[in-house]
Amino acid sequence: MIYVTRRERFSAAHRLFRDDWTDEQNLEIFDKCSYPNWHGHNYVLYVTVKGDLNPETGFVVNIKRLSKIIKEKITVKLDHRNLNIDVDFLKGKMASTENLAIGIWDELEPTINALGIYLHCIKIEETENNFVEYFGN
Ligand code: NI
Repeated sequence: MIYVTRRERFSAAHRLFRDDWTDEQNLEIFDKCSYPNWHGHNYVLYVTVKGDLNPETGFVVNIKRLSKIIKEKITVKLDHRNLNIDVDFLKGKMASTENLAIGIWDELEPTINALGIYLHCIKIEETENNFVEYFGN
């Protein structure tokens, strides 16, 4: 199998906090991400798919088509949005990068599979120093 990765970027606001914790507890665990008046990140999303080569094109996937799918299914819902409030697939979940990666996987997988290929990894960089990878289980 060959692996192909497409990068897309989005900027979004969020806040990590628990209602049942004090501001001090939230600050201790979630640090700056718990600030009450929101804050944002410039996220970088890497979607890696895998599959066999199409003998006609020499491609695993038409990367333009993959980019369009990611934009239509994911980044249009996330870019310049509030992850705690605006995103259907994060409703009721902590707006962590981990949950974001799982949610993006679940949103994309059926459409990727319909192309006859497979999702391999959702990687999201929240900052230059922190990133999350999800491989589907
Ligand atoms: Ni944050």
